[in-house]
Amino acid sequence: MQTGIVLETKGATMKKRVLSGIQPTGNIHIGNYLGAIKHWITSQAEFDNIFCIVDLHAITVTQNPKILKSKIRELAGLLFAAGIDRKLSHVFVQSHISAHAELTWILNCLTPMGWMQRMTQFKEKSQKEQVNVGLFDYPALMAADILLYETDLVPVGEDQKQHVELARDIAQRFNSIYGETFKIPEPVIPETGARIMGLDDPTKKMSKSETQQGHAIHLLDSPDVIRSKTMGAVTDSLREIRFDENRPGIYNLLVIYELFTGISRAEIEARFEGKGYADFKKDLADVIIEGLKPLQSRYRDLTADESYIDSLLVEGASKIRPIAEKILTTVKDKVGLG
Ligand code: AMP
Ligand code: TRP
Repeated sequence: MQTGIVLETKGATMKKRVLSGIQPTGNIHIGNYLGAIKHWITSQAEFDNIFCIVDLHAITVTQNPKILKSKIRELAGLLFAAGIDRKLSHVFVQSHISAHAELTWILNCLTPMGWMQRMTQFKEKSQKEQVNVGLFDYPALMAADILLYETDLVPVGEDQKQHVELARDIAQRFNSIYGETFKIPEPVIPETGARIMGLDDPTKKMSKSETQQGHAIHLLDSPDVIRSKTMGAVTDSLREIRFDENRPGIYNLLVIYELFTGISRAEIEARFEGKGYADFKKDLADVIIEGLKPLQSRYRDLTADESYIDSLLVEGASKIRPIAEKILTTVKDKVGLG
């Protein structure tokens, strides 16, 4: 039985709850925008939405404290500037609601090691860099984020699907041991643009942690920077401008064009028939510059007074804290704590 506090209702039917998280690290790029943020915004009226700025996840990699604080504000500013509407969506900072860390501990204690050891993101990272216990436990914290709010749907990029499935497994395990408590969430993966690739290497996902200049277009990049990164994007030595997945460079650029303009693939191919890559890239740069312009100008307005964003984040957390606390209290009671 579900007993959660209902934030929004649509007539007699309850809206489904969507929850997603995003790390306040690195520079938010068009992959994050097209693969995640844009979907959150376009579907916001249909759902009851919670967006979590996951600072506790961010510190699984050592962060400069000053930069982390400013990145949290920047990310919140970008989300609101991109179109997150406070009447339809709640944006908050993970560490502002201590139930996330508390529930993580309880979930840790019923998650078999084998389940966590299977997580491919951790396996890949641990081969490349020195890792800490927090990074290993990252999926349990993500499960807590999701399960604390009786989430129905979790929109994420493909790379996070396994973590959402783990959250489902953990929820089912808890429910089978202690009785029905958690709602079982579903991952939602966008059909196109689930994976925008790096401009410098189209075989690698565009990532916030890559620092090479030509890798990603960031949401706050100036028109000049956007143009030069787009013109420098790696393609191939063929000529035809077609949506061909076997030609990852041009395919990736075409997908970016498609997602910014909303024009069909056939029409895009027709538009560039007989044209060269340079012509296409020039147009693509214009499309991205124009596409980001309204967001960039709203961002400047919103962040003119620094304390404004902070106040929105305090408000976001205070609205949803009661939901998390209610679930946590139920969980503690069932487990026999307190
Ligand atoms: P991250 O940058 O890993 O914090 O991811 C934030 C959100 O953006 C998640 O939903 C990711 O799956 C999504 N995302 C990250 N990078 C990409 C990308 N290159 N293409 C599409 N979606 C992405
Ligand atoms: N791990 C996710 C990522 O890196 C971010 C995240 C944290 C998240 N908690 C979440 C996403 C809860 C969805 C739901 O992209």
